[in-house]
Amino acid sequence: MSARYQVTGATAVEISASIESGIRTAALPPGAALPPVRALAAELAVSPATVSRAYQELRQRGLVATAGRHGTRVRPRPPVAARRSALRPPPAPGLRDLSAGEPDPSLLPPFGPHLAALAADAGASIGYSGGGVLPELAEAARARLAADGVPAGELTLTGGALDGIERLLGAHLRPGDAVAVEDPGWANLLDLIAALGLRPIGVPVDDEGPLTAGVSAALSAGARALILTSRAQNPTGAAISAARAAALRELLTGWPELLLIEDDHAAELARVPLHPLAGATRSWAFLRSASKPFGPDLRLAVLVGDETTVARVAGRTRVGAGWVSTVLQRLLLALWRDPAVAEQVDRAAESYERRRTALLAALAERGIEARGRSGINVWLPVPDETSAVTALRDAGWSVAPGALYRIAAEPGLRITISPLADTDVTPLADALARAVRPPHPGGFTA
Ligand SMILES: Cc1ncc(COP(=O)(O)O)c(C=O)c1O
Repeated sequence: MSARYQVTGATAVEISASIESGIRTAALPPGAALPPVRALAAELAVSPATVSRAYQELRQRGLVATAGRHGTRVRPRPPVAARRSALRPPPAPGLRDLSAGEPDPSLLPPFGPHLAALAADAGASIGYSGGGVLPELAEAARARLAADGVPAGELTLTGGALDGIERLLGAHLRPGDAVAVEDPGWANLLDLIAALGLRPIGVPVDDEGPLTAGVSAALSAGARALILTSRAQNPTGAAISAARAAALRELLTGWPELLLIEDDHAAELARVPLHPLAGATRSWAFLRSASKPFGPDLRLAVLVGDETTVARVAGRTRVGAGWVSTVLQRLLLALWRDPAVAEQVDRAAESYERRRTALLAALAERGIEARGRSGINVWLPVPDETSAVTALRDAGWSVAPGALYRIAAEPGLRITISPLADTDVTPLADALARAVRPPHPGGFTA
């Protein structure tokens, strides 16, 4: 609990409003602990049940999370508009930031030339009646997906993969429903699930994807949707193998009502083949984001799926945001059509692969097993996240604590390799080795 922020209120509504205001103004930043229920109740002279109700309301809206002995804390990305800088404080000056999970900006294709070409050939303005998915973009997207074995289905566009996931979950599930997700899994997805009032059920992941037994257990426990990452799983780098895809497909034949969502965010950057599950259930959706290969600021993902599922997403978009701007659609199409951009994306993929495998090899030389089959992150199991993060900070590196990504998985660190230079690999591996195996405290010798 921030020593500076005084929660006030005499009713559950007032107390939750006071905490929400603290979150909004960043007096209670992400990760801040709220006081224990009884302590706050005594301080405010209300009953513990009143404080419990306030905390429960904030939990149901995804602002806070309660984790056993760790108490109740502000979620990493609570769904109230805190100042952007408060959402993810920058690492202390002088630290190399390997915590962000961002693509290397120098490896993203520049938009300038394509924007200039679009400006020169802008055509007539599009009004409300003309908005929607551009047929030429849909055709190009279908061809690209078909080349990767994704079955032809209906197609729409969303403002990124996470927007697509939100629309899918919103259209199929109700607050309180359970969703099976990878554990460890993408922190932003866990925050979205909390904000929608849904319950995550964790599924363990190995390098070949979510474990079939884990998926089976989650479905038996009542999950109504399953969200899988095809490749470059965040944070472990797992990629669904042919064998795992076959096993999962077989399992899913027994769960025809399940909403199956596949997130292929690595898309053109992935250097491992795609093994889609698309079509394994009646309700399915396959999302391919433009963020990683072409740039997060495009805010665009292609969503294909069965007719009903896509119609729900497209119909809901139509009554709200309307459509994804055709300006962005034309920009993405221009990027797809430019062979120089394709070469640039290939070079980026190669560069990520080289840096990731170099770090994994340097760790292996030091007797440390880490994970990172694909993508821009390496996952390093550690006995204690706090001491490992602190040791690395003292050595000049900022990495992400695994707690952001875990439900019941073992502790670990997520290390984003996209900011690494080749010359960083040895000093980073040395620092990681020291952080994972801290020296015995003074006075104890073997
Ligand atoms: C697992 C996963 N899915 C999707 C994305 C990209 O999402 P969006 O398309 O919303 O930018 C990311 C980005 O980090 C990710 O890690």
